[in-house]
Amino acid sequence: MCGVIGYVGSKSCARLIFDGLKRLEYRGYDSAGIAVLDHGKIELVKAEGKLVHLEPRLEELPLKATMGMGHTRWATHGAPTARNAHPHLHGDLVIIHNGIIENYRELKEQLMKSGVEFKSDTDTEVVLHQLHAELERTKDLKAAIMETVKHLRGAYALGIMYAREPGQMYVVKQGSPVVLGAGDGENFFGSDALALLPHTNRAVFLMDGEFARLKADSIEVWDFAGKSVRRDPAVLNWSASSADKQGYKHYMLKEIHEQPAVMSSILSRLVDLKENTFVDKETGIDALDLGRIKNVAIVACGTAHYAGQIGRYMIEEFTRLPANVELASEFRYRNPCIDASTLVIAVSQSGETADTLACVKHAVERGCQVMSICNVRFSSIPRASHAVLYMEAGPEVGVASTKAFTAMVLSFYVLSLAIGEKLKTVAARRLEKSFDSMRHLPALVDRAVNAAGVIEEIAHKLYEAQNMLFIGRGPSFPVATEGALKLKEISYIHAEGYAGGELKHGPIALVDRHMPVVSIAPRDNQYEKMISNIEEVRARQGRIIGVGDIEDERFRSICEHYIPCPQIGDDHLQSILSVIPLQLLAYYVADMRGTDVDQPRNLAKSVTVE
Ligand code: F6R
Repeated sequence: MCGVIGYVGSKSCARLIFDGLKRLEYRGYDSAGIAVLDHGKIELVKAEGKLVHLEPRLEELPLKATMGMGHTRWATHGAPTARNAHPHLHGDLVIIHNGIIENYRELKEQLMKSGVEFKSDTDTEVVLHQLHAELERTKDLKAAIMETVKHLRGAYALGIMYAREPGQMYVVKQGSPVVLGAGDGENFFGSDALALLPHTNRAVFLMDGEFARLKADSIEVWDFAGKSVRRDPAVLNWSASSADKQGYKHYMLKEIHEQPAVMSSILSRLVDLKENTFVDKETGIDALDLGRIKNVAIVACGTAHYAGQIGRYMIEEFTRLPANVELASEFRYRNPCIDASTLVIAVSQSGETADTLACVKHAVERGCQVMSICNVRFSSIPRASHAVLYMEAGPEVGVASTKAFTAMVLSFYVLSLAIGEKLKTVAARRLEKSFDSMRHLPALVDRAVNAAGVIEEIAHKLYEAQNMLFIGRGPSFPVATEGALKLKEISYIHAEGYAGGELKHGPIALVDRHMPVVSIAPRDNQYEKMISNIEEVRARQGRIIGVGDIEDERFRSICEHYIPCPQIGDDHLQSILSVIPLQLLAYYVADMRGTDVDQPRNLAKSVTVE
């Protein structure tokens, strides 16, 4: 987590860096700082809390400074205080860091024995002092960096400036994301391309084990052994305005409303809806040896994991391959039964989630075929995979994932049908019906999003609740868990999602007249069973908030509140429509409670630590 950004050029840089940090604030927001280098001197400001607290201090930085770097922190080692905020300075050397230095304790002990005094509780400060010591020895910053990385274990994206070497800065990458931006007479680095987009769409991607020297007019890259590496810039196709709020109160609301367009754009790239065919190059399956696959393991975290659970239903139905879904943080550390006959599908919006990335690397080592479903192009997970399906949902800035979830579900739908067609495990009639459903999907998603008014009214009745349950069956079960996650992460109301049939095995004990139970019951093959589960809750005086067919009077009549949801007549795609009311409900409840919807406490958008 944490966001890093750097600039070297001819413009006054303090404000520019601050604005870049604002674009990265979703990565962490418990303290922030900026260092600039001007006339051979490093000037530094830091503040605890969000970036608004740093802003008034910008005027302390020299206006004329044309190189500098900034950091917004998500604390791992050391409390979120100004003292632990980055950049960290020692003598003429200043660094920022995203990642975790795993062996920092032993390095710290050694450094302390040699007389170093630490000013913070961070793991980062050991890198600073180690580098300083190597610099004393080698008198050359590039050589000192190459020596320092030999001592470090863990993940790091580092930005380094040295007052005695003005006009240049170093960027070092091992395990944490960092992108270089190539401008005209100016160069940049940032944790992701979003921060750089207002300035350049030409990005240079460093690989792990590489470092770069940025000057205003050059970018040089080496590996950790000092061998020069050639890296041409890639051109990014996101526009800077796609990362703006565009009049919405929050990014999350804007991103919810983008879903009809996202669905259309995914379908127009992955499927030819006139010919009823799939575009194999875009779905990524042309890079797979389908004949080799005997089983599928889906790995992901959080919301992506819930999308993976729906994906599993689709993979099993359309390809008849046994599929498992696993939390990436668990999968990696338990000797899973995977081999060359396994297709591992890694799902990640950011493409940088450390646990998911670790699974991908592990699966590649075990000889599996690895495919990723990702949003951010050129990010680490797709780069480490054999095949990629890019969702291209556009930048998702709100920390709570919305459009990425529905984009993942639709990507799984297309992918599993495309594989099923090739393996001849999906009947022609079913395929035809699916193409038909896909044609209707964007318009129905639009209708679902436009039911916001009803949901806002219901949110008024619920926003003071202390607990909430979400229930569903079949694909609506992962939808329920995703709805609960959305609510808890942005409103801080305790919420849990359960399979409808599971409630009576324990959780129903929680139900009383104060407990809202959001019940998702589309007209699918589990409808009758679901209605029975809802009746069980009603019999215990639970408050039923129904999400179901617009014309379902029977369901509506047993609910305290009812959210009509368009029906598509396809159980898998229905999950896309059913989750939208839950996203909106979480949004309005959180907004009414006055929480920071886009940047909820303790969270970060891109989880680059394990
Ligand atoms: C919840 C949320 C997180 C992410 C999870 C994985 O709203 O956004 O649970 O889904 O951190 O992130 P990615 O998809 O980037 O791997």
